[in-house]
Amino acid sequence: MKPIRLVHLSDPHFASVTYSPRQFFSKRWLGNCNLILFRKKAYQTAHLKHIPELLETLDVETVFLTGDVATTSRDEEFAKAAAFVSEFKQPVHLVPGNHDCYTRGSDRGKRFYRYFPEPELQEHRVVKKKLGKGWWWIGLDCALATALIFSYGRFSKEMEKKLEDALSQIPTDEGVVISNHFPLFGSGSPRHDLRRNAALQKILRRFPQVKLYLHGHDHSPYIIDKIREGYPLVINSGSCAHQPNGIFYLMDLDRTGCLVERCVLKQENSTYSWVVESQKRYHFL
Ligand SMILES: [Fe+2]
Ligand SMILES: [Fe+2]
Repeated sequence: MKPIRLVHLSDPHFASVTYSPRQFFSKRWLGNCNLILFRKKAYQTAHLKHIPELLETLDVETVFLTGDVATTSRDEEFAKAAAFVSEFKQPVHLVPGNHDCYTRGSDRGKRFYRYFPEPELQEHRVVKKKLGKGWWWIGLDCALATALIFSYGRFSKEMEKKLEDALSQIPTDEGVVISNHFPLFGSGSPRHDLRRNAALQKILRRFPQVKLYLHGHDHSPYIIDKIREGYPLVINSGSCAHQPNGIFYLMDLDRTGCLVERCVLKQENSTYSWVVESQKRYHFL
């Protein structure tokens, strides 16, 4: 069967500064200060508008966006993110990140889902959908509002059960792409990592149909190949909004392996372009 062509983007962090005193009733003041002092320069979104058109020319079939579409979960930020997503001609599979439920109010009100409805994911935190060509997508919502200086996610016991059920229903000769905002492997910082990631690692090793695990959260991109140890290929696409190091990954996925191309943002004067910086083929067992 022909490979399926995918793109993985993460952490665009659409932003909208507020000067309202109401921000001091929530964690938003912290994100807002961070935005004004540091993030505004390092994270830009103007160059993102070229991506949908580019992906059409590349015959991309499906897009994965692994969360942190917003910065402090304001309506204005989600509206910008939704306008960006609406430009894609392909289906865009989204999961929320910690910045998409940044305050307790936005988490309780499930504001992310008002802009990106996905009822099964909202209700059960696990969604399963057919991608075509013998591939499935399973999205995980491990995001939750956390206290100041924390940015961890949680893979709950209920999610573990749902994921196990979802994987059990997928034929063994078909493949699975999992997307989650949070990394599969810890960075050593409990404040930042996915809680109960060991349970998630264990379940993924039990189901060899899972070939790819896509995530963001860590803004420096990396790929972890522990295929020989029974894990899926783990791809973190960093932040596509980062300047000057914004990236996304373009992938040709088939049952024997995945060709991964790293597309990097280049700027000349005020002109932006995305170029393939490197490529590598990974082989499944
Ligand atoms: Fe992020
Ligand atoms: Fe994050």
